[in-house]
Amino acid sequence: MQYGKPSRTALAAACHRAAHQVLEQGRIFADPLALTILGADAQTIAQQAEEKPSGRRMRLFIAVRARFAEDALAAAFESGTRQAVVLGAGLDTYAYRNPFGNRLRVFEVDHPATQAWKRQLLENAAIPLPGSLTFVPVDFERETLARRLAAAGFDRTQQTFFTWLGVVPYLKQEAVWSTLAFTASLPNGAHVVFDYADPPASLPTEMRASHESRARRVAALGEAWVTYFEPERLHAELVELGFAEIEDLGPAQIVSRYFPGRAGSLPDKGGHVIRATTIHRRK
Ligand SMILES: C[S@@+](CC[C@H](N)C(=O)[O-])C[C@H]1O[C@@H](n2cnc3c(N)ncnc32)[C@H](O)[C@@H]1O
Repeated sequence: MQYGKPSRTALAAACHRAAHQVLEQGRIFADPLALTILGADAQTIAQQAEEKPSGRRMRLFIAVRARFAEDALAAAFESGTRQAVVLGAGLDTYAYRNPFGNRLRVFEVDHPATQAWKRQLLENAAIPLPGSLTFVPVDFERETLARRLAAAGFDRTQQTFFTWLGVVPYLKQEAVWSTLAFTASLPNGAHVVFDYADPPASLPTEMRASHESRARRVAALGEAWVTYFEPERLHAELVELGFAEIEDLGPAQIVSRYFPGRAGSLPDKGGHVIRATTIHRRK
């Protein structure tokens, strides 16, 4: 991220969610606040998205990861989770649509500059701040998440759900693993959902070229992708940390779950969304 400036990729992700509401009628991920938080009108958002047809794949991936995370959070709530942390929240609107009201406490953690900008957008859009929400400004690369959360009233004895969407690729591996180790250390268990990508060297040639051009674009925004994972190694390291149950949807599983009618061969490399929990092991 550029020092002291809000995340440009957070804006891009929010525009994708808004465009998904208009172009695909929110079919994968319905978010009634996606346009509101941007102060955008449907026609302009749709037009901007249609000017870049190559953005469709990313738009749908962003819709899928949000849907997967919110479905997993709803399931965790059903099984007793009452605390959630949205890590690197950007313009995510879950906290303002929280279907569980005061029964689910939500902490929104983000880089201070992005969070200040979001709070201004929320005010501009007259989106009320629910009593269940606490903002926690943190720079993952420079500060300890545990300390900042504790100071904000986070209860580490509560079973907690962490969503961490569109953030891991931008962080150095040390920051990723220290955050995952913190989530795994909670005494009464945690769930985490995050997304990641296969290493570029493992992509087929044509896919690697389009990956590289997207990577150049985000790097030009000052937010380079620096972390990738090879799935088997990632899973082994998560198990090592104490995660017992892991559900990893790679490109082929994403297509079969969310786009079952799609024709053609299934890609087996690209973006993944993963859910891991420490809870079963403790039962
Ligand atoms: C691509 S955006 C994703 C935002 C949101 N989760 C979404 O899906 O729309 C990346 C987010 O990571 C946050 N981020 C990047 N580096 C960070 C850091 N070092 N500390 C805290 N947040 C960071 C940015 O502020 C931004 O909100």
